[in-house]
Amino acid sequence: MRILGKFLQIRNGFVISSKCIGTTATMAKSKFDYVKEFELDDKCLPNCWIVVRIDGRNFSAFTEKHDFAKPNDPGALELMNRAAITVMEEFREIIIGFGQSDEYSFVFRKDTTLFNRRASKLMSNVNSLFSSSYVYYWPCFFKKPLQYPPAFDARVVLYPTDKNLRDYLAWRQADLHINNLYNTCFWNLVLKKNMKRQEAEEKLSGTLAAHKNELLFQEFKINYNNEPALFRKGTTLIRKLVPNEMGRLKPTVVPLTDDIIADRFWKENPEVIGMKSLGTYQPPLKAPLVPGGFNPTAVNAVIPPMSMRPMLPTNIIPPHTMINSALPKKTIESNHQDANRELNRNGDISGHK
Ligand code: GTP
Ligand code: MG
Repeated sequence: MRILGKFLQIRNGFVISSKCIGTTATMAKSKFDYVKEFELDDKCLPNCWIVVRIDGRNFSAFTEKHDFAKPNDPGALELMNRAAITVMEEFREIIIGFGQSDEYSFVFRKDTTLFNRRASKLMSNVNSLFSSSYVYYWPCFFKKPLQYPPAFDARVVLYPTDKNLRDYLAWRQADLHINNLYNTCFWNLVLKKNMKRQEAEEKLSGTLAAHKNELLFQEFKINYNNEPALFRKGTTLIRKLVPNEMGRLKPTVVPLTDDIIADRFWKENPEVIGMKSLGTYQPPLKAPLVPGGFNPTAVNAVIPPMSMRPMLPTNIIPPHTMINSALPKKTIESNHQDANRELNRNGDISGHK
């Protein structure tokens, strides 16, 4: 027997490390092997959408410590998106992601066989890559260094029907709407009217959405519907065919700030739940700008301004820069079929058939 594993030990003739490699003898079972039986089978039910949701741990404190803008910090949201795109670029069986505040949901296609559908494997891999990416990309979005390591919790939830899945995503976007409308009122009262936090809380207590909209308009001349879509709608990540520098369509994770509650989004992007060939990305005709040049509807919104990424090696800048440079429609259409054929042949995007 060749002994290559550092921790390989032989006791009573039994190999007790499963980490060793290159052994030539037949592995015998050790008397300790029975402990494997204690591992629970956590394989996800077949034919169900698998949702992994991660959520920042105690981000109320983390955001204070790191001086996040209130109530929404565009850089922080872009960092969340960057980490989520990294996850979706690695795990191509994820068909859609949705992020808001300190949380992100990732939906694995219902027929995925990744990690043999083991919930703990799916959840821990997504969470771990998301968390490390969040830290890795932090300097691209914040000048202030991280004060301590952030953490995220994670859970797996299964949804058996397409309606259940759509309702889940609608629930997360509705949650964002309720919180964001409240937070926009709250922080305007505190920051612009110098109200104490408790006073602002009391003023808003028990109020309906219409009242909050009215308050924003009357007291701050803010039309809530004109607030950046990134803040009101969160970010939805889906895969689209996007022309690269050569005009060739490439499968790309595309961030959108769309309404995913209404039917329109699902009609315009039928490949998501239908698990069909990817559609071609159509850049918005007019991308609304928010102060500071931040452009939430553009795909390259996830790329930080040059001044904010001095420490980035070029190879970690996402390849979305071409998305808004519209190619002639004809070129896009003629490339579209080729690209989908290539996908099917190479299994390039295993998340779509
Ligand atoms: P647990 O998730 O239970 O650990 O607690 P949490 O403190 O993370 O609270 P929760 O996830 O319910 O809410 C997220 C919190 O993050 C919000 O209440 C905000 O305090 C904070 N947060 C998220 N995004 C932003 C942001 O863009 N700006 C600011 N200022 N705060 C944010
Ligand atoms: Mg949290």
